[in-house]
Amino acid sequence: MASPSSFSKAILTLACLLLLVGGTSAQLSIYYYYETCPLLCPTVKSIVQAEIAKEARMGASLLRLFFHDCFVNGCDGSNLLDDTPTFTGEKNAAPNVNSLRGFDVVDKIKSAVEGVCPGVVSCADLLAIIARDAVEILGGPGWDVKLGRRDARTASQAAANNSIPPPTSNLNALISSFQNHGLSQKDLVALYGAHTVGQARCTNFRARIYNENNIDSSFAVTTKSNCPSVTGVGDNNLAGLDFQSATSFDNTYFVNLMKKRGLLHSDQQLFNGGSTDSLIRAYAQSQGTFFQDFVAAMINMGDIKPLTGSNGEIRRNCRRIN
Ligand code: HEM
Ligand SMILES: *[C@@H]1O[C@H](CO)[C@@H](O)[C@H](O)[C@H]1NC(C)=O
Repeated sequence: MASPSSFSKAILTLACLLLLVGGTSAQLSIYYYYETCPLLCPTVKSIVQAEIAKEARMGASLLRLFFHDCFVNGCDGSNLLDDTPTFTGEKNAAPNVNSLRGFDVVDKIKSAVEGVCPGVVSCADLLAIIARDAVEILGGPGWDVKLGRRDARTASQAAANNSIPPPTSNLNALISSFQNHGLSQKDLVALYGAHTVGQARCTNFRARIYNENNIDSSFAVTTKSNCPSVTGVGDNNLAGLDFQSATSFDNTYFVNLMKKRGLLHSDQQLFNGGSTDSLIRAYAQSQGTFFQDFVAAMINMGDIKPLTGSNGEIRRNCRRIN
C-alpha cells in the first residue's frame, strides 16, 4: 500500500498536470493541426506570398491584424467580425477604422484552407500563421507558430478603443499598456520593431512633424512635403513608418529612431532618454538580437488569452459567427 507521502505526491502531481492542462496557453501547440490539416501551412503561405508580390505593404497590414486581434480580449479573431445592424464589432473602433486592412486577403486564405480541411482551422490561428509568413517573406525571421486557438463569438468595440494604445502615447503609457497584456519592456520594444514595415496616415503624425523638437530636421522637411499642416488636408496621405525602408523587415527602424527619425510620437518615445534607449541601441547594432527578441515577443503576444477547449468556435467565415 502506498505510504501517505507518496500518495499525496501523486495527488500533487495530478493536480499540477491538471493545472497545466487548464492553463491559458498550455494547450497551444505547434503540432495542433499536424494530422487534421497537413496542407495548412503551404496553403496559407502561397497566398500571403502572392498578395505581397502584388503589393508589398500588404505584408505589413497582415502583421498588424494579429496585433490588433491579440490586444483586444486575446487572440481570438474578434477583429475580423463585420458589423451588422444587430452586432457591433471592432472594425469601426478608433484604432481600426480607415486603418486596418487585409480583410479580403484573410477571406481568400480562409476559403482556401476550408477547401483543404473544412471546419478545422480557426481564424484566430490563421492570423498567427499569416503574421509569421508576412514577416518571413518581407525578410524577417521565421519561427514555429503555436496553434489551437478558437474563434470568439463576441467582439468589443469599447475594448478595441481602450486596449490598443494611441500613437500619442508617451513611454510610460506604452509600458503600462504592454504590462497589462502580460508583456515586458523588451516585448514592447521588440514588437514595436514591426514598424520596420508599413505606412501611417498624416493624421497620425502631423502633430509630431510640425510641433516636436526631438526630430531630425531633414526627415521633418521630407515628411512635411506630403503631409500638410492644416488639419483635414491630406489626412490620409501616407508615409513609411521606417524612413526609406518600409517594405523590408530589418533593423533600420531602430537606426532611424537613434537619428530622431521616428514617424509617430509613440515611435520616438522609445528613444527619448528613457528606460528603453538601451534596447533601441542593441537592436540598431544587431539585427540578429532584434530578430531573436522579436520572435520571442510574437510568441508571447500570441499567448494572450486564447480560447481553447470548448470555448468559442471554429468560424466557417471569418467575418461572422457560425
Ligand atoms: C503599442 C504601440 C503601437 C502603436 C501606438 C502603434 C500605432 C500605429 C499607427 C498609428 C499606425 C498607422 C495607422 C494609420 O495611420 O492608419 C501603425 C501601423 C502599423 N503598426 Fe503599429 N502601433 C503599435 C504597435 C504595433 C505592434 C506591436 C505591431 C505588430 C507586432 C504593429 C504593427 C504595425 C504595422 C505593420 C503597421 C503598418 C500597417 C500598414 O501599413 O497597413 N504596431 N501602428
Ligand atoms: C469607439 O470609438 C469610436 C471612434 O472614435 C466611437 O465612434 C465609438 O462610439 C467608440 N465606441 C465605444 C463603445 O466606446
